[in-house]
Amino acid sequence: MTAADKPAVMALLRATPEFEPEEVPVAEEVIDVYLDCPGRDYLVTVAVSSSKIIGYVCFGRTPLTQSTWDIYWMAVALECRGMGAGSQLLKTTEEQIQKAGGKLALIETSSKPNYLNTRRFYIKKDYKRVSRIRDFYAPGDHRLIFEKRFP
Ligand SMILES: CC(C)(COP(=O)(O)OP(=O)(O)OC[C@H]1O[C@@H](n2cnc3c(N)ncnc32)[C@H](O)[C@@H]1OP(=O)(O)O)[C@@H](O)C(=O)NCCC(=O)NCCS
Repeated sequence: MTAADKPAVMALLRATPEFEPEEVPVAEEVIDVYLDCPGRDYLVTVAVSSSKIIGYVCFGRTPLTQSTWDIYWMAVALECRGMGAGSQLLKTTEEQIQKAGGKLALIETSSKPNYLNTRRFYIKKDYKRVSRIRDFYAPGDHRLIFEKRFP
């Protein structure tokens, strides 16, 4: 992702129905940190189809760990889902993590019904649910952590 991509990524975030409006400025802050100093705390990759940004992923080394990485945010435009963009984004992310010596990738998500497809996606990609903190985000909205380990 470059600075020129930011308006399109912000439009994508705003149009992602799973994200609450208050989450978007938080995602933007992370993007700005990345644009300010790519690779220091975060890396952001965009998925492009016919010169249009249709997806993005933000990830980074987990501070104070030896080889753990967090995949913080990921989204594919609603009209482009189910066509492999999410798989490509995750694949390139995992490749970059492994190349940097990463051994463990973590993804945090919500238990809400509208994240069911997201959970299915991660399970299909061999992520294992390893933690569930009940009522973390709100009563009835649990925090789930998925992991994938690399050799
Ligand atoms: C999760 C997400 C990134 C997946 O992106 P995508 O481009 O639709 O994924 P793909 O097209 O690569 O699909 C990958 C696999 O998941 C499966 N899949 C995708 N959508 C699915 C759905 N709605 N139900 C069941 N499986 C689904 C596909 O069948 C595919 O399987 P295959 O590789 O065997 O063909 C996308 O749905 C999304 O943006 N969700 C909302 C935002 C979000 O939840 N982000 C993550 C939390 S931060």
